[in-house]
Amino acid sequence: MNTSPVVIGSDHAAYQLKEKLKKFLIESGIAVEDAGAEDEGSVDYPDYGIKVASLVSTGKFDRGILLCGTGIGMSMVANRFSNVRAALCNDLFSAIMSRRHNNSNVLVLGGRVIGDVLAIEILKVWLETPFEEGRHQKRLDKFNEMGRSA
Ligand code: RB5
Repeated sequence: MNTSPVVIGSDHAAYQLKEKLKKFLIESGIAVEDAGAEDEGSVDYPDYGIKVASLVSTGKFDRGILLCGTGIGMSMVANRFSNVRAALCNDLFSAIMSRRHNNSNVLVLGGRVIGDVLAIEILKVWLETPFEEGRHQKRLDKFNEMGRSA
């Protein structure tokens, strides 16, 4: 399992899930930086997506976790940042493949889509699965180098 420190953030819709994933990470010996939200009061998901994605984009954290109701909004925000490869994985297969083939560095989950137990299983496989490199690195290089397009 990759035990490097992780930054985690959510909006109100996935606050409870964030707290559960934090507990799992701490119990697994992984240091966690909590970027908010602080409670279940209504907030705007981009504020938290931006915090987490910028910490990964600038290299302050190797990996991040973002949670919102569906995971869709957080994915959209996070993937606007350079060096961020955010993967919305509400199933185990996607989580494994997002590591093997896409070297995902931000895991995104939908707190209103999946249950807590599945979310923890997804997080486990995401932390455990290595990137396969080789032809997959060549493919990542293609979109890393292009920057943002019109
Ligand atoms: C909040 O109501 C909801 O829109 C948000 O959590 C997320 O699902 C957005 O993509």
